[in-house]
Amino acid sequence: MNAEEVREKSLAEIKQAKTTDELDKLRIKYLGRKGILAQLFAEIPELPNVDGRKKAGQILNTVKNAIEGALRAREQTIKNREQEKLESVYFDPTTPGKRVPAGTLHPLTQFRTFVRETFEHLGFEEVYAPHIENDDFNFSLLNIPPDHPSRDLWDTLKLDEKTILRTHTSNIQVREMRSRKPPIRVMSFDRCFRHEAIDPRHTHTFTQFDLLYVDKGVSMANLRWLSEYFLKTVLGKETKVRFRPKFYPFVEPGVGVDALCPFCSGRGCKICGKGWLELAGAGMVHPTVLENSGVDPATYSGLAWGFGPDRMLMIKLGIEDIRHFYEGDLRFLKQF
Ligand code: DAH
Repeated sequence: MNAEEVREKSLAEIKQAKTTDELDKLRIKYLGRKGILAQLFAEIPELPNVDGRKKAGQILNTVKNAIEGALRAREQTIKNREQEKLESVYFDPTTPGKRVPAGTLHPLTQFRTFVRETFEHLGFEEVYAPHIENDDFNFSLLNIPPDHPSRDLWDTLKLDEKTILRTHTSNIQVREMRSRKPPIRVMSFDRCFRHEAIDPRHTHTFTQFDLLYVDKGVSMANLRWLSEYFLKTVLGKETKVRFRPKFYPFVEPGVGVDALCPFCSGRGCKICGKGWLELAGAGMVHPTVLENSGVDPATYSGLAWGFGPDRMLMIKLGIEDIRHFYEGDLRFLKQF
């Protein structure tokens, strides 16, 4: 194309442009660093004589000015049209905006954040373990022998002979001890599954919290302190905590952790029954479980602590039916 052709073609294209985006493209096409005019300018030094070069330069500059002028004019026209269009639409800036319904976090998610933060302050890290689990991590390695009743098909949802839906979050324990070196401070707040008949206190899918602390010299005193720290944080400073001996195969000694009922201060009421709420299971990690995890029980000891957040939250918020947590009913969820 010679200069004249470029001028005609560019001006025609600019006239056709309908948006400022299109104009920008044309600007680049003709005036850009590698644009058509730049190429023509680049050819000038090849012209044979000085006069010719001068002339060509002048011509190209006029074309350039013409294109720039046309771009500016067209841009103005397009903007004016857009403005007119906007003004022709009736707009009342005083009408209230549309209300976008804001969701809330699920009460269990809120509680999870609360629990996580409570223990993060003490150096615990949140970890995860598979929901679909090899039964060794869920049972055998936790010292739960093959004939233990909790393995019964009645409790455990089996996928095949070795694969189950984990029945508790304690399946983090061996996994974490095998993949870390003491001191180990981990916790998990997550889903578990059991073959339960559904009623106001039981569902096939529920939530558990597990906490594991392994180091030199970890003792029942740490367990006691952690239990009080946590239950006082959840239920209030006045909360009293007691330990009862209780059997769990993966801890020795094992304890049930109770809190004095905050609703009746221990007198006995509809929520607690006899004055104490049974809230958690805990104990010192069984030496066999440490060994199964490659941790030397002669050097290290550990504590494990678990509770059911569903139940704790039901008590704290006065919710009477666990199924509310899992049904996704907005009338329930909106209250939190
Ligand atoms: N996994 C136990 C359950 O499902 C709860 C539990 C008890 C967890 C004692 C622990 C523990 O970590 O030490 O009932």
